[in-house]
Amino acid sequence: MMRLKRVLGWCVGIVVVVGAAGLWYSSHPEIEPLNVKNPAKFSEKQIARGKLLADTGDCAVCHTSKDGVTNAGGLAIEIPFGTIYTTNITPDVETGIGDWSFEAFKRAMREGIDRKGNYLYPAFPYTAFTKTTDADLEDLYAYLMSQTAVKSDNPVTDLSFPFNIRRGISAWNLLFLSPGAYQPDTAQSEEWNRGAYLVEGLGHCSACHTPRNLMFAEKTGDDYLGGGVAEGWIAPALNRNTPSPMGWNKDELVEYMRTGFSANHGVAAGPMAPVVKEGLSVQSDADLMAIATYLVSFQDPKGKVADGDRAKAAADINQQAYSRVEPLTTQGARIFSGACMACHNQSGGPVLNGVNPSIALNSNLYESVPDNMIHIVLNGVQSPASDKLGYMPAFRYNMNDQQIVALLSYLREDFAKQPAWPGLAERVKQIRLETEKDN
Ligand code: HEC
Ligand code: HEC
Ligand code: HEC
Repeated sequence: MMRLKRVLGWCVGIVVVVGAAGLWYSSHPEIEPLNVKNPAKFSEKQIARGKLLADTGDCAVCHTSKDGVTNAGGLAIEIPFGTIYTTNITPDVETGIGDWSFEAFKRAMREGIDRKGNYLYPAFPYTAFTKTTDADLEDLYAYLMSQTAVKSDNPVTDLSFPFNIRRGISAWNLLFLSPGAYQPDTAQSEEWNRGAYLVEGLGHCSACHTPRNLMFAEKTGDDYLGGGVAEGWIAPALNRNTPSPMGWNKDELVEYMRTGFSANHGVAAGPMAPVVKEGLSVQSDADLMAIATYLVSFQDPKGKVADGDRAKAAADINQQAYSRVEPLTTQGARIFSGACMACHNQSGGPVLNGVNPSIALNSNLYESVPDNMIHIVLNGVQSPASDKLGYMPAFRYNMNDQQIVALLSYLREDFAKQPAWPGLAERVKQIRLETEKDN
């Protein structure tokens, strides 16, 4: 399991609102523990439905520590004020949720309050999970309570003052949590609503793909799905501001979500890899199409390139970029040709290793910041969305900062035809340092 460091900045917002917390003091009662001598029994079908919902919500991605038991918790989420540890959501009575009734579970998912009545930090995406229907919550509960109970004494979350005052979250919730199941938009199709339910609810796509305000809550309106930050990576805009030179159509989105790769775009790497691997790739065709239907509705209705023209447009973008690599007149072109082309040519020859993503079509090259490209070149792709995609080697020890700057400047200006990234050298240096201990 990949180790995740979700630096969610909402914590800064808590500082601002913690003062208000006194005013908005609200307390929640403990919910009676379950009678654990008489555990409830659930049908195999219900448990299987619940497992799929748990996958949709990436529960195991966050609730499993590196090399730990699935859902036994303990993953460290580092924020500037300390470390939040995910909890054990297996049915162990002592250290997990074994004595949680359905009511207690539902309150946690809908309102972000644990069985005893404590506020949970919004690193747990309950602002999205709240949209889950009662029926789905029941299935999810059935699955969680049917797992093998694992005793796991996880480290206790300990943030510095005032973030350690959990009650401060009540004021933040008042501003940014709209508790309650998803309400269908009657102006939209059933398929669109199904996609909205999955994306806005358990899928919590906007937790990463939407920028945050000063209080570190997700922005709304035109900023929804307008691109955000996740573990030091950029989660590209999925709305009309998509950086992709082609834009996305439904079929490409479905393919990307199913396999982690779309030839007209690229791969799901970094923090998106586990989202595809554990969450999206196991969904039904109908649900992936519903998500795609919902997502494309946020793009330019005219689309960047019409369906019938997409093959030619992609070939043209590749042609203009790749045909000018030679003669190797710049240092960047020489590095690209020597270090990258063997796996990233678009000449149609045999594929050396997994897939052969086109660099010219990759959204990351068209982003206003170079961070994802730097991550990829420094650290490669070590935890792919699927083994079939292959692994990309890390170049951290093969290239110095100056060479990486020359390579990325070349790709940005010559392949993507975009203005130079400001502060590129500084970012390469920083990201090299930040990712040193994990690589
Ligand atoms: C982005 C990471 C993330 C994801 C995804 C996630 N959780 Fe959590 N969850 C957390 C964190 C962090 C906490 C602890 C919050 C705290 O200590 O205040 C938590 C706490 C909980 C709690 C409270 C448990 C307790 O003992 O207090 C429950 C229940 C829970 N999560 C269920 C789920 C379920 C079910 C899913 C999948 C549908 C899920 N979580 C997905 C991060 C996540
Ligand atoms: C944990 C953070 C996170 C979550 C949650 C998340 N994404 Fe992503 N997503 C990313 C990152 C980071 C990238 C960039 C990956 C890369 O370039 O390899 C990305 C890339 C993508 C892309 C490709 C965009 C492009 O132009 O290349 C699509 C499509 C996408 N995500 C869809 C989704 C959907 C749908 C969901 C919800 C089901 C979702 N994402 C949830 C972080 C996330
Ligand atoms: C040994 C083959 C190999 C070499 C050499 C290689 N790559 Fe890759 N690269 C891959 C594979 C395979 C993937 C897809 C990995 C995955 O997601 O599983 C990939 C993915 C990528 C992506 C897409 C990442 C994303 O998130 O969309 C970029 C950009 C990239 N490589 C750039 C480069 C650059 C620049 C170089 C040269 C410094 C390079 N690669 C060298 C095999 C290679």
